[in-house]
Amino acid sequence: MSNAKVVLTGIKPTGMPHLGNYIGALKPLIEQSATHKTFVFIADLHALNTIHDADTIKQHTYEIAALLLSLGLNTDNAILFRQSDIDVIYKLNTLLMNVTPKGLMNRAHSYKAILEKNGELGDDPDNGVNMGLYTYPVLMSADILLYNADIVPVGADQKQHVEFARDIAEYFNRAYGNVFRLPEPQIGKDIGLIPGLDGRKMSKSYDNTIPLFAPEAELKKKIMRIITDSKLPNEPKNPDESTIYLLYKHFANDVEIQNMRDLFNQGKIGYGDAKKVLFEKINAVLSGPREKYNYLMAHTNELDKILADGAMRARAVADKNIKHIKKVMLG
Ligand code: TRP
Repeated sequence: MSNAKVVLTGIKPTGMPHLGNYIGALKPLIEQSATHKTFVFIADLHALNTIHDADTIKQHTYEIAALLLSLGLNTDNAILFRQSDIDVIYKLNTLLMNVTPKGLMNRAHSYKAILEKNGELGDDPDNGVNMGLYTYPVLMSADILLYNADIVPVGADQKQHVEFARDIAEYFNRAYGNVFRLPEPQIGKDIGLIPGLDGRKMSKSYDNTIPLFAPEAELKKKIMRIITDSKLPNEPKNPDESTIYLLYKHFANDVEIQNMRDLFNQGKIGYGDAKKVLFEKINAVLSGPREKYNYLMAHTNELDKILADGAMRARAVADKNIKHIKKVMLG
């Protein structure tokens, strides 16, 4: 563990991630955890404002835990835990409310998007907005500040929330002295667009995703359905415009990538064959994790143990910090 900076991120348990999430977020996070003190938690409290069913949240929580472990998150280094297992998160959430300007919450993109949508529909602006949603950024700040995180890897959509955490830390420090470190968002390094089956950005909202642990047959079917242009096998093709290549390059090694570029550029491979190579490659990389994932999902008692251990380690940090925070606020 060579770097003293603390990395922390939360993943909301709302369903199975897809290949784009893997390439853009999960793989870099797991790699970074080898060299940084890392906290990764499953943000089940943040799922509560949309999912009002305990079994669903619990099932998705297991899925995220199994996913991270099967992809190689090393829990000797990284602390993997369930957000709701750490009791003092509720305390810090309440305490931070008092240094958080209401106006800050009003400016949250995610909240504003809902107001806007309600406006378009002619509904009451706050229709469907519960306080969990409205104060979502405070809880997220508590997550980040409770563990003194320096670096918070998130998707671009969460950048503003991390900036809020920084703002709230600053408001707090101004009132109470230098208590919190100022966290910074880390937005996935520029790996370019990760295209989905239809060539647009891979996203659940476009229904063009490849689920990360699709069974082999489904994975193959999806890959064979990737939309291409109508160039013939012997026509030169620009690899950088091909969904097949743009996915392949995240799974293959440098030599294989160069080789595939050459085949495309020189018109030595057709799309059908390229898809087969892509399938073989993704399947080779993911079949081991997929097996491990399926094993863990069939043995959730093992996940419970790992999460309990992570909670114990996270709690040690959280309990110590909350004591100090309470003291500076309440004496
Ligand atoms: N809000 C994040 C998301 O929806 C999840 C999250 C909760 C989070 N708490 C966090 C991310 C703290 C980073 C740090 O993706």
